[in-house]
Amino acid sequence: MAAKKTKFLIAPSMLASDLTALGDEVKNLEQAGLEVLHFDIMDGQFVPNITFGFPVLESLRKKTKLIFDAHLMIADADRYIEEFKNAGCNWLSVHIEACPHIHRTLQHIKKLGMQAGVAINPGTPLDSLNGILDFADFILVMSVNPGFGGQSFIGNSFERVAELKKRIGNRNVKIQIDGGIKKDNIREAVHSGCDILVMGTGFFSFKNYSEALTQLSNEAMR
Ligand code: DX5
Ligand code: ZN
Repeated sequence: MAAKKTKFLIAPSMLASDLTALGDEVKNLEQAGLEVLHFDIMDGQFVPNITFGFPVLESLRKKTKLIFDAHLMIADADRYIEEFKNAGCNWLSVHIEACPHIHRTLQHIKKLGMQAGVAINPGTPLDSLNGILDFADFILVMSVNPGFGGQSFIGNSFERVAELKKRIGNRNVKIQIDGGIKKDNIREAVHSGCDILVMGTGFFSFKNYSEALTQLSNEAMR
């Protein structure tokens, strides 16, 4: 019998948390057993929205040892890589659509000791990842168009994940999915090959975070 897949991580997207009480949210998530926090960094240029920046990350960094996963939806990401490191980020993903010298950008992220991710929009062909799979620690497959939380999942995203998984083959590259992941599709997400599940509204609609983690994990492994 094939072994049941159990290894995946749920990464709550802090954009959907209670922004008036971010410090408490982070503490509660840590106590509930979460391991990774996902921060959506938007600049109003690459995407039509503006979220948080260095001062917010730096203050939260003092509150927790959890992994900070920053998803950069910004133009000219190269300019800020070092500052994200200094603000306490552990994982950093940049968009392939926003980085003309993606290979150099990934090397820079890794040289600073962070895990390097490449994010890819729903409308960008997977072929654009040819040539960089050997240099990324993870690929972030967007299952909504970036810019806002709470959007509907785009239907063909799990097919893209499954195809990407084939292309990754035996490389040590994880797949992260982001956008519209909820209890009703988390199982399909894991079965299609996702290792890290970013969840905004689908996570924070639970009031009790350890209950959220238990219910969502059980559903994903079912
Ligand atoms: C969208 C962001 C997502 C978003 C996820 O640009 O990258 O991380 O906040 O939120 P949900 O899970 O609500 O779609
Ligand atoms: Zn994100």
